Amino acid sequence: MAGRHFLQIPGPTPVPDRLLRAMNRQQEDHRSSAFPALTRSILSRLPHIINQTNGQCFVFPASGSAMWEASLVNTLDPGARLLAIRFGQFSHLYIQTARALGFSVDVIEVPWGEAAPTDTIEAALRADSGHAYQGLLLVHNETATGVTNDVGAVRAAMDRAQHPALLYVDGVSSIASLEFQFDEWGVDLAITGSQKGFMLPGGLGILAVSAKAMARIANAKSSRSYFDLRPMRDQNERGYFPSTPAISLLFGLDESLTMLLEEGMSAVAARHRRLAIGVRAAVAKWGLAQCARRPEIASNTLTAVIVPEGIDSAHIVDIAFRRYDISLGAGLGEVAGKVFRIGHLGDTNALTLAGALAGVEMALLDAGVPLTLGEGVGAALAHWRVA
Ligand SMILES: Cc1ncc(COP(=O)(O)O)c(C=O)c1O
Repeated sequence: MAGRHFLQIPGPTPVPDRLLRAMNRQQEDHRSSAFPALTRSILSRLPHIINQTNGQCFVFPASGSAMWEASLVNTLDPGARLLAIRFGQFSHLYIQTARALGFSVDVIEVPWGEAAPTDTIEAALRADSGHAYQGLLLVHNETATGVTNDVGAVRAAMDRAQHPALLYVDGVSSIASLEFQFDEWGVDLAITGSQKGFMLPGGLGILAVSAKAMARIANAKSSRSYFDLRPMRDQNERGYFPSTPAISLLFGLDESLTMLLEEGMSAVAARHRRLAIGVRAAVAKWGLAQCARRPEIASNTLTAVIVPEGIDSAHIVDIAFRRYDISLGAGLGEVAGKVFRIGHLGDTNALTLAGALAGVEMALLDAGVPLTLGEGVGAALAHWRVA
């Protein structure tokens, strides 16, 4: 098809030309005396993305899921007990990963579309008077349901319960798009990847570790090899990596950091908020509900839309792809067939999203959802127009 494909899934997101250019270069000797300049440029600026001043950041040739594993094996002893909240496919998979690695996870079950319940978390931590839980697993932005959790409120619940568990936060679809206050929220491990807010291809796993969690790394008894943070820390200190880094992606990440910090993280978050409000206005105009059950928990990086009874959301996603050249996110896990997801994160703007919403409208109409063409787009434009 002529023209540009609309990649409107919640990651990977389109890669800006500036980042494509930054990566389009020859490989380099990662053991040369020139290489540490790149390593240092990245590792010194990554913490600014999440407002981190304690601890340090790590970058692996890997992906977000790999950082789930890295976060756990570097900080826990075999069989350690964890508390987790399940409210979507990615919180489910984080739990599955922990269990597969031999950790024992108690799960607070939450209906998909809801957010982490701070009262229940506080009660569970208070009940654990012996402090058996060594960590709390929380997905900041549940990409399956389009729900953002209030990490600061979860931290406050942990503090009220005076519980010393480490706070593990999956920020794969929030970091570098939404506000993320690593220090203020008392996050101990923050997990992300390169393919969403950083606007890069997939292939980098990024892990931020607090000073408190760094102190565990030396003594945690879990087996680890590739994801062992100790050799990574030692090599990083000198500007190198223990094994061959993803050099092209590192050049991309360095430029991505420059782009994000030029815009400013508050402005990045405000841009995502403004765009999300327009998308949500379109969804409301179509008469469709969001998977996020309350407006205050709706994500600013993606919107998960519930389709009317009797229509398979996978069908809508396929019509959109085949007829209108736009990729939308399918429903995952419990909400497969019931929702589709519109990504509005990374390198995007109002006009791109207006085109995307036009594609969604046509696909919805084709699939039998009654609507008038242009009404959702119009509602979004009313929000985005600079009056
Ligand atoms: C919230 C969340 N966590 C984890 C992952 C897994 O990351 P990756 O696909 O980079 O392994 C994703 C992927 O979409 C995600 O959205």
